[in-house]
Amino acid sequence: MEVFSKIAFLVEEMNRLQTQAEEFSPFVGASLERMGIVSKMKVADIGCGTGNVSFAMSKVVGPKGSVVGVDANPTAVNYCMTIAKRKRIRNTKFVVGDAQNTSLPTHAFNAVYSRFLFQHLKDPAACLAEMVRITKPNGMVMVEDCDLSKWVIEPANPHVEQLWTWYEGIIKAKGSDPFVGKKLYRMFVDAGMKPQVDIYSLPVLKNNRRVWDTILDVLRKIDSRESRELIQGIESFANDKNSLFVFPLVFRVWAKAPRH
Ligand SMILES: C[S@@+](CC[C@H](N)C(=O)[O-])C[C@H]1O[C@@H](n2cnc3c(N)ncnc32)[C@H](O)[C@@H]1O
Repeated sequence: MEVFSKIAFLVEEMNRLQTQAEEFSPFVGASLERMGIVSKMKVADIGCGTGNVSFAMSKVVGPKGSVVGVDANPTAVNYCMTIAKRKRIRNTKFVVGDAQNTSLPTHAFNAVYSRFLFQHLKDPAACLAEMVRITKPNGMVMVEDCDLSKWVIEPANPHVEQLWTWYEGIIKAKGSDPFVGKKLYRMFVDAGMKPQVDIYSLPVLKNNRRVWDTILDVLRKIDSRESRELIQGIESFANDKNSLFVFPLVFRVWAKAPRH
């Protein structure tokens, strides 16, 4: 918990989130397609982070559509607003808010989306209920998140493994669920929906070394005995040109919102 509050507002953490989101950008088109997002729609991105998916949505919905991004972290919201201003993207709005109580109007959006947020929430089912509340009846709800135990590290490296078990521990210490991805399907069913699901992941090879570099930049800021050990181990893994890391498996779950 303490580590999170230490890093959440750092410029290095924004860079890490932005880099991670850029690496995941090849998967975004499929998400928007599965949600059926098209021109003129009103959509929302809950826990929008650096806004990569929000901006991808804004291109598809066009000038007659709109996108609202919500995030609890004012640094992330400012980051998104700065990009929107710099790139003159006028159909987006970014607001500081809580995913479980967004203050957005009921039944207002054609599609409501969230990625890599649920692993941070104490009550993800409450967030899903909030997403359903703001979605129009028969509109689309999609949540993507990981099971943080399902990664690949080759060759074995205790430090890279430790990075993930350490992160898993931080999530648990916050009272959140590091394995929430695999539970999304059932969560949608319990909320009265008929979900579809698919899964994917991202291999981190030498050509996406910057993933490691941005993680290392954040770890350098934490500066504890644990983080220093991790840094050394991760550097040696990242410097091995034949190392393979595969990000934790992502579960993409989507369904029409109930009619009522
Ligand atoms: C891992 S980032 C994912 C960002 C973005 N969705 C993406 O996929 O690139 C998780 C985001 O959720 C936000 N977040 C965490 N708890 C939240 C809450 N209770 N309400 C709103 N946002 C929250 C964090 O500030 C962070 O920006």
